[in-house]
Amino acid sequence: MKVGRIPVAANNAEPTIGLAGTSSNTECQYKTCNNIKPPILKQFISVHDVTDINALVKKAMAYKASPLKDRSLGSTKRLGCLFLNPSMRTRLSTQIAAQNLGMDVIVFNVGNEGWALEFEEEAIMSGKTVEHVKDAAPILGKYFDILAIRTFPSLKNRDDDYSELFIKQFTKYAGIPVVSLESATLHPLQSLTDIMTITEERMRLNPGSKAEKKKIKIVLTWAPHVKPLPQCVANSFSQWINAWKEAEFVITHPEDYELSKEFTDGASIITDQDEALEGADFVYVKNWSTYTDYGKIYCNDPEWMLTNEKLKLTNNAKVMHCLPVRRNIELTDEVLDGPNSLVTQEAGNRVWAAQAVLSEIVTPLL
Ligand code: CP
Repeated sequence: MKVGRIPVAANNAEPTIGLAGTSSNTECQYKTCNNIKPPILKQFISVHDVTDINALVKKAMAYKASPLKDRSLGSTKRLGCLFLNPSMRTRLSTQIAAQNLGMDVIVFNVGNEGWALEFEEEAIMSGKTVEHVKDAAPILGKYFDILAIRTFPSLKNRDDDYSELFIKQFTKYAGIPVVSLESATLHPLQSLTDIMTITEERMRLNPGSKAEKKKIKIVLTWAPHVKPLPQCVANSFSQWINAWKEAEFVITHPEDYELSKEFTDGASIITDQDEALEGADFVYVKNWSTYTDYGKIYCNDPEWMLTNEKLKLTNNAKVMHCLPVRRNIELTDEVLDGPNSLVTQEAGNRVWAAQAVLSEIVTPLL
């Protein structure tokens, strides 16, 4: 690894620092430089950035089979991981994925250790924020080749959260590819992992058979929780399963917990959980707070917690959850510790999904 190398930038642009091997100017990277091909994945913010979900899943599975097969691919590149919120799986799996590709990784806990960032344009910064993203992001674009960012919604103002201001401002001002490690409304690395986990389970149950291509039934079920949680995971899972088009997709929740149609259109919405669970092959369990009357807890009926008794309604369904999970509030011990639970396999797969995404993004930068 050529630490401290100052590369000659294309187009006579100002050279970048350290491993940042290309100019931080996005126009240069993607459009005007003759010697750099347009990337397959320019960024990873939502399913809309992906042209072929199954190809990306295949790539993730290949990394699972052979984690170090591209161990030098990213050896001249540096990934910056910015966390504005806590994380265990996303933080560690992304670092491991990058290291498996030979990348240098720096994690910066902006939320705890950095200056409080301002995101509003034309803000008069007389309050708590110390530095504008307009000033900070271009500097990160000099330090890193790829920027990965974890933010959360406020759950106070729906329009603000759903405008995705934080990640959009970083994308606008950093000038390098941005990967979402979860944003205000979506969690794409989790969703890619979830489809990978469903795919490998389908293949395990039907090895080498055409049955693996049989349409499966996936149910996303709301679960109780003690705190109002974001809709990110449920939105993102819905968006990806709808785009994947390989499953009958049912979403079940109590009345008043409707998600945004932007993500759920294409799914059947059923407010009777028992009816929804009938014949399910996979049950994805997740709590979310209300979308319409934004960020509230209405019903918190413990009857919505998945039990082994409820699993009897399904086709011996496998059970998924992104974790962390509140045991015996969201999901029972008997389900989580039972043979139908995929949660540990699912969390393990976060590495391979992240590795596939980073590999696709870093390749055009080489
Ligand atoms: N599923 C998930 O994103 O886990 P972390 O919050 O621990 O990263």
